[in-house]
Amino acid sequence: MRFQNKTVAITGGNSGIGLETAIAFKDQGANVAIFGRNAETLAAAQQAHGFLTIQGDVTNRADLDAFFATTKEQFGKVDVVFSNAGIAEFLPFEAADAAHLDRTLDINVKGVFHTVQAALAVINDPASIILTTSVANVSGDPNMSVYAASKAAVSTFARTLSTELLPKGIRVNSICPGPTDTPIFDKMGMDAETTVATKEFIKTRMPVGRMGTAADIAHAVLFLASDESAFIVGSEITADGGFINCAVA
Ligand SMILES: NC(=O)c1ccc[n+]([C@@H]2O[C@H](COP(=O)([O-])OP(=O)(O)OC[C@H]3O[C@@H](n4cnc5c(N)ncnc54)[C@H](OP(=O)(O)O)[C@@H]3O)[C@@H](O)[C@H]2O)c1
Repeated sequence: MRFQNKTVAITGGNSGIGLETAIAFKDQGANVAIFGRNAETLAAAQQAHGFLTIQGDVTNRADLDAFFATTKEQFGKVDVVFSNAGIAEFLPFEAADAAHLDRTLDINVKGVFHTVQAALAVINDPASIILTTSVANVSGDPNMSVYAASKAAVSTFARTLSTELLPKGIRVNSICPGPTDTPIFDKMGMDAETTVATKEFIKTRMPVGRMGTAADIAHAVLFLASDESAFIVGSEITADGGFINCAVA
């Protein structure tokens, strides 16, 4: 039980990578609190896994303050924060309007900023904060100008926030997932056939021959949350099946 008596708070813990990570922490003895917008998936996660669930939106600071206050009330100070909530909206640059820009930056960048700031009111010393970035922050793929920029911003947070928070005993790192098979692909406005075709195309670009699973990413998050990574500070761990650094043979 690597996280016995530890308190873990996860935004976007009701789906995909966040949900799988929440399950992994719980399996390792942690008290887990999750935060998301969708009441149905929150309730399902609560029922299946016994998490503390709080409904809210990362674009609303009051919701985040309530999330962390309730988590502390229930479990005590927070040892691990996984700031993972995010959206993936892809548009050609010329079609990317102000609403798209605002939505993505509000959730993916400001949402992370406010999550970490809100967490500081209840965080332990020592503690570990993990932020979710993406291979998009280095890959230069089409239609991802805004999404990629949002994740590159988060990548810099891991470094700047580490510098500022290390004196409080807080390590900040980021996890950089490659293409990972989660419900995010069902939220991109594609029909079912196009979603399947998109995933098949992605596989052809994967050196390991498959997309990632949420569990692939969860393993790295638990490592970054654990004492085994005590010497890792302000870093980004890439879990992408070789997507960025290797060629497809
Ligand atoms: N899957 C990939 O290929 C991939 C690759 C690189 C990076 N990522 C990143 O990994 C993270 C998790 O994505 P995923 O693949 O697991 O997708 P997912 O299954 O769609 O999960 C996204 C989570 O974020 C939450 N969320 C989104 N907007 C929110 C908001 N405004 N307020 C509160 N919660 C919000 C969602 O909650 P609701 O359902 O309640 O809205 C959901 O729990 C994201 O940051 C994503 O950008 C994913």
